[in-house]
Amino acid sequence: MMGERKSDVYFEHASIDDGKIIFDLRNDPDSGANSFHTEPLIWETHSAWFAEHYPEWYLFKQNDEIIGVCRIAVQHKVGTLSWIISPEYRRRGYGKLMLSSFVKFVKLECPGPRNAGPVVPPWGTPEVAILRAEIKPSNTPSIKIAKFAGLIQINESPEVIEFEY
Ligand SMILES: CC(C)(COP(=O)(O)OP(=O)(O)OC[C@H]1O[C@@H](n2cnc3c(N)ncnc32)[C@H](O)[C@@H]1OP(=O)(O)O)[C@@H](O)C(=O)NCCC(=O)NCCS
Repeated sequence: MMGERKSDVYFEHASIDDGKIIFDLRNDPDSGANSFHTEPLIWETHSAWFAEHYPEWYLFKQNDEIIGVCRIAVQHKVGTLSWIISPEYRRRGYGKLMLSSFVKFVKLECPGPRNAGPVVPPWGTPEVAILRAEIKPSNTPSIKIAKFAGLIQINESPEVIEFEY
């Protein structure tokens, strides 16, 4: 287990072999309820999807333990963010720390050991002009961590709150 020191956290690029970790985190009941696709994922569908999309995923780690995961999916220079904290690490401030660090990370300010030097997502950082996130209005912890990370609410409907950075 880890200590409560939060200074030694870092990001690593996910590899193609991390599909099961992401699958389990996305199938956690809270993640499912807060996602816009609420049905449980099917492994075969997920693993085929992950083989294409794994470069979008980052592991947030401390002492080799996975604290959570973040994703940045870039299209037309818009980087859409999503995130999950592992159930056993929730409600301890890691969500705020992870998302605020990830926003800095994708802006080249927070390299981890494996990513020492400039962090260049596969699409090239300069191609990301805006960061975005879409959160269900019921997902209070995610709204809090988005605001903490500096994201600004730009739109709200009964289904979704949109944030930008
Ligand atoms: C949302 C999530 C990332 C929050 O992670 P976390 O590590 O628990 O968050 P933190 O400990 O940093 O808490 C952030 C704030 O939310 C509050 N909070 C956290 N979990 C809460 C809960 N279950 N109920 C009410 N408040 C909660 C904390 O008290 C804190 O509030 P504060 O800023 O007023 O002190 C985590 O619950 C999660 O992975 N959920 C499922 C996936 C998900 O919803 N992803 C986002 C989809 S866009």
